[in-house]
Amino acid sequence: MVYKPEFVEHVTRRRAALRAEAAALIPAGKPVVLEIGCGHGHFLETYARQYPQRHYIGVDLRGERIEKARKKARRAGLTNCHFVRAEAREFLQSLPPEVTFAEIWVLFPDPWPKKRHHKHRLLQPAFLEYLAGRVGKGGRLYYRTDHREYFAEVAAFLPTLSTWRIDPRAPWPLEHETVFQARAPSYQSLVAVRTSHPAKPAETADPLPPAPADPT
Ligand SMILES: C[S@@+](CC[C@H](N)C(=O)[O-])C[C@H]1O[C@@H](n2cnc3c(N)ncnc32)[C@H](O)[C@@H]1O
Repeated sequence: MVYKPEFVEHVTRRRAALRAEAAALIPAGKPVVLEIGCGHGHFLETYARQYPQRHYIGVDLRGERIEKARKKARRAGLTNCHFVRAEAREFLQSLPPEVTFAEIWVLFPDPWPKKRHHKHRLLQPAFLEYLAGRVGKGGRLYYRTDHREYFAEVAAFLPTLSTWRIDPRAPWPLEHETVFQARAPSYQSLVAVRTSHPAKPAETADPLPPAPADPT
């Protein structure tokens, strides 16, 4: 696909700004907990208060949600918990190569319920392979959703990847209700653990297309 030069310039500038923001917020060589689609930050802010020795980054597309999350972290006086407005894949692609995550949380991701929109779902094999390049052995992915079919889809493809294995006995380190959890009549959760199988380094993995903006 050929893009207009102004668009390429805009995206290049946005990625450079993200890279600088991430480099300033994420301490090198420290275990980092990442929440993708953090919404108003309820979960991550609580986690950061309970385990202050670690570093936390929440990412969400929606600017007003990120503002609310930042306010919460400021009010709590947290210096180990930051929120970034970004598309998750673009954020990951903008990170310095040495940044890795100990935990990745994806709580109630947009389910894109219509069949023709399933391709927009965040959790897909290529994305999980890409994430594996940012997670060391033993790192964990925590996934929770109230959408039965999306849950089943992820539970079915994870065992086909050599970089992750589902651990049905792995504990859920913190229970704290998110906005979408509070609305859900029921939900399902899984924990996947990063195996020792080498992942493609993030810089050489295939570029991921950005998500569309409207998950309806
Ligand atoms: C259904 S809400 C769940 C929010 C929160 N995790 C909760 O449980 O209340 C999904 C969130 O993911 C964000 N989101 C969707 N796609 C995203 C993407 N590609 N990158 C970053 N955030 C995304 C949306 O803006 C929204 O805040």
